[in-house]
Amino acid sequence: EPGSGRGPAIVLIGPMGVGKSTVGALLAERLGRGFRDTDDDIVAAEGRPISDIFVDEGEPYFREIEKAAVRTALAGHDGVLALGGGAVLDPGTRALLAAHPVVYLSMDVDEAVKRTGLNVARPLLAVNPRRQWRELMEQRRRLYTESARAVVTTDGRSPEEVAQAVLDAL
Ligand code: S3P
Repeated sequence: EPGSGRGPAIVLIGPMGVGKSTVGALLAERLGRGFRDTDDDIVAAEGRPISDIFVDEGEPYFREIEKAAVRTALAGHDGVLALGGGAVLDPGTRALLAAHPVVYLSMDVDEAVKRTGLNVARPLLAVNPRRQWRELMEQRRRLYTESARAVVTTDGRSPEEVAQAVLDAL
């Protein structure tokens, strides 16, 4: 709760499917703090799935409402917050993260293909997953790294192991 003196929310960033929500919930439980996920907030506010928002309104619209969701979530929350994989693309969203302990959960392309496979609910991976993943990682790796205070690799690790590594890194 705001004013409880626990400091700013811990923010998890990284590509889709890396485990931000699973690890974030575990981390929050271990810390006795709340967990929030901006994708969930957006779906609740819009009343439709993210894939529909992408198709109906386009990515720029999504990034705008995502920025508003991140701003709202950070203002009213001192627990653990998971962001969508593309949130760091927006400079305004990145600026919102400056005062927070941000942890980048990373994975390599092989791990990404293995984990997300044929998940059509993720609109950016609809065709040629491996090539798309390589391009996505190349475009975003620097933004994730620059936005984060710590990088925790998830390759070959269970969510519990990743949560512990995040605690160690904070
Ligand atoms: C996106 C990642 C998704 C979701 C949207 C766009 C991206 O979030 O915000 O589909 O651009 O990488 P997750 O990382 O929670 O899957």
